[in-house]
Amino acid sequence: MTTTHLGQIFHVAGRPVVTEAADALTWIPDGALVLDGAGTIVYCGPRDGRPAARTPGSAERIHDHGDGFLIPGFVDAHIHFPQTYSVDAYGGGQLLEWLETCIFPAEARLADPGFAQQIARDFTARRIAVGTTAAMVFGSAFPHAQDALFDETRRAGLRLVGGRGIQTVGGPASAPLLTTEQQAIDLTADEISRWHAADSGDVSSALLHVAIVPRFSLSVTTETLAGLGELYDDVRDRGVYVHTHLNENNRLGDGEIDLVKRSYEVDSYLDTYDGRFLPGSRTGGAGLLGRRTVMAHAVHCTDDELTRMAETGTSIAHCPVSQLFLGSGTMPWKRTVAAGITIAAGTDVGAGDEWLISRVLSDAFKVHLSEPGAGSVAMHPAEMLFTATLAGARALDMENRFGNFDVGKEADFLVIRPERWTPLESILRQGIRADDEVTARDQTLFALLMGLREPAIAEVYVRGHRVRT
Ligand code: GUN
Ligand code: ZN
Repeated sequence: MTTTHLGQIFHVAGRPVVTEAADALTWIPDGALVLDGAGTIVYCGPRDGRPAARTPGSAERIHDHGDGFLIPGFVDAHIHFPQTYSVDAYGGGQLLEWLETCIFPAEARLADPGFAQQIARDFTARRIAVGTTAAMVFGSAFPHAQDALFDETRRAGLRLVGGRGIQTVGGPASAPLLTTEQQAIDLTADEISRWHAADSGDVSSALLHVAIVPRFSLSVTTETLAGLGELYDDVRDRGVYVHTHLNENNRLGDGEIDLVKRSYEVDSYLDTYDGRFLPGSRTGGAGLLGRRTVMAHAVHCTDDELTRMAETGTSIAHCPVSQLFLGSGTMPWKRTVAAGITIAAGTDVGAGDEWLISRVLSDAFKVHLSEPGAGSVAMHPAEMLFTATLAGARALDMENRFGNFDVGKEADFLVIRPERWTPLESILRQGIRADDEVTARDQTLFALLMGLREPAIAEVYVRGHRVRT
């Protein structure tokens, strides 16, 4: 028995890079997405052409979503679980003040197991509400909070890559989040052994994966980084991930980037994650870069840093909503794309005050169009959809499993019902559309992505299963 979802389909097919996304954009107004019993896509195309329509009498369960849209599930490549309640927190400054004033105290509250349970439930519910079917999740310092997160995620049936936030040094507000160097390594190793692929026992079919997550270079030391590099060498082959922040805030003199370079005496911020964390950027241990490593922000990278990320397969989680919120600047889109790095989208909740990935792409469109001079670019709607979906799957090294509707992939998708959000319905119905079909298609997708709000996300599916709170 197959299951068929009928609706208007948008996805970016195949394995394009972002600059090829427009050519790979697929729009099927009278579409059908057909799944087998395991939730694998066996057909994506016009409804009249689906196998059951051509073979009368064959068993088929049909979900007709009417005028609804079917798009791949959103991938959030950078989101902070312990900051679920910290969206819109006023810190009276940029990154470092906001961390001290708002974030470290908020994250310390997860020391209470009851609170940790509650925030894990609410975080998971928020993810479902906004259709984030897969996420790279920056975790809590507290193992019981991480257990609650993994438990809730497994119960819901969402995908998660994540790990406990590692901090071994910091100011007074961070004290409750700190561990010794040895504890940092031991707790991370323990999390990997207990949660990596814990749902299926096999990384190639798991929904749950663990990442090694040093908060950022200012929260750890050369000793921590050396220990984590050694640990990563041991577990890399098991499909473990790495996630951290890079080159986010460059306020001159006392911003994050200057402080990293000054305190480690290194040439570049990236060197600290690349095993070159000793003074003069001398090698002090194994590095953390690779195809399962995702760097959040990467706003202010040098050419050498971009080249190094590209050659190691390291990806970027692009978080423009957060960058606006904290005054961090704008990641140069054209230059970063030209470097050949996979750029996925991240909310960076709670510095990002939007949970919905399409809102991140909305701000991306605005900030990149506003880049000075030759940097200014109007992102194509297909590039926006790509960055929100397939690029995220690629950054999580699971492009072979989800991210679009290619036959053989696991069916992660959203059902969007415009009638549930009147402003969206009206722009889709009444907006001006070009006479030529391709421009009209692009305009429709742009309106859908820009106008989408949470109430219009009617149903969320992971691997063919409806996800509910
Ligand atoms: N750098 C270190 N920690 C954080 C955090 O929690 N949020 C952001 N945006 N940047 C960070
Ligand atoms: Zn972040």
